This record gives sequence, C-alpha cells and structure tokens, in this order.
Amino acid sequence: MSKVAIVYHSAAGHTAALAQSAAEGVRDAGAEPLLLRLEGDDYAQALEGVRSADAVIFGAPTFMGDLSAGFRAFAEASAKDWYVQAWKDKLAAGFTVSNSPSGDKLNSLTSLALFAAQHGMVWVSTGLLPGTVAGKIGPEDVNRLGSFLGVMAQAENAPADVTPPAGDHKTIRLLGARVAEAARRWKAGSPAAVATAA
Ligand SMILES: Cc1cc2nc3c(=O)[nH]c(=O)nc-3n(C[C@H](O)[C@H](O)[C@H](O)COP(=O)(O)O)c2cc1C
Repeated sequence: MSKVAIVYHSAAGHTAALAQSAAEGVRDAGAEPLLLRLEGDDYAQALEGVRSADAVIFGAPTFMGDLSAGFRAFAEASAKDWYVQAWKDKLAAGFTVSNSPSGDKLNSLTSLALFAAQHGMVWVSTGLLPGTVAGKIGPEDVNRLGSFLGVMAQAENAPADVTPPAGDHKTIRLLGARVAEAARRWKAGSPAAVATAA
C-alpha cells in the first residue's frame, strides 16, 4: 500500500479542514494518508514523515500573496534533506486557500511546485478541467476556481466547518485520490533508467 503524506500549515483551520478531505481522497484510492500539521518550530516528525512517504501533498494558506510563514519555515528546515536529495523522485502536489477568489493563490502554488522541484520531486497537477467548461462554478462544484497546477480553495470570513464550501472539499478529495493512484502506478513501474548522483 502506498503512503501519502499531507504536510500543511494552518492558522485558522481552513487548510486543516481541506487536509482532512485530501486524506479522504487518499483512502478512496486505497492508500494510507499521513496527516502532518506544522506547528511550533520542531519539524523532525514532519521531515521523517516525508522521508517515509511515497508521495506528498503540501498545503498552506496564502498570506500576503504567498505561502504562510509557518510553511516557509518548514521549507527552510528541509535544507538538510535537500542537500542529499532525500525526497528525490517522490511524487508531490499542492493546495492553498485564501479569502479572495484570486487572492494571488497562483503565486503560492508556484512556490509549492518550485519547492518540490528543488527537492527533485515529480509534480502532479489537478488533472481537472475548470468548472467553467461545464458552466459549473457554484459552491458545490469541483474546481470552481479553475486551477491546474494545484487545488485552490476560497474561504469566507467564517469558521472552517462552514467554509470553504463543499465544492472545494470535493476538489481536494479528488486530488488526494489522484496522487494516491499516481503513487501506486509510480511504485509499480520500472526503476529509474539512469542513476544520478544524489
Ligand atoms: C496575515 C494574513 C495574510 C493574508 N493574505 C491573504 C492574501 O494575500 N490573499 C487572500 O485572498 N487572503 C489572504 N488572507 C486570508 C487567508 O488566506 C484565509 O483566511 C485562509 O482561509 C486562512 O487559512 P487557514 O484557516 O488555514 O489559516 C490572509 C490572512 C492573514 C492572516
């Protein structure tokens, strides 16, 4: 069974709620989710969790147009693993949430993809057409904000049990399942053809 780590920072709980839905999606695909919330400044458990996983879904709220400082601190703490490329060839994907429909969330997803690339990881997109294609951009609809690079969610100024809406939870659940399925296929496939220096 593949293991998918979900590493996330959340200040007010919206990212945390979305992480739970990502975990549901991982289970939908028959894989094991490992939820790792970033709190405080001890990242040993999160780093060990990433090392033990076949794939990792990174999540952070968008603060001031980029990843929250709580996530960035974890990214910087991963430098020792970066130096030996300990996460190389693991699959990676990402999600973010902010208050505005745009809120400059693309910048956060780009930061997550770049972070994964620095670690030599292989990025998995949403694989979802934008809701606009089917004329479905309501709160119940999948990929209502139309993102390919990773999942975008939008939360109102309300608690995490009422926002983001169901459509955003469905979207991140689908990403969880997609990453788990990709990890299963990736593990079952051929070993890397060319061995490179770690
Ligand atoms: C310091 C700070 C900066 C923020 N910057 C943005 C922003 O740039 N764009 C936006 O749409 N929302 C912004 N927000 C709103 C958060 O992204 C939003 O409340 C999000 O749901 C918080 O996620 P969390 O509950 O997981 O902490 C900001 C909130 C805070 C506290």
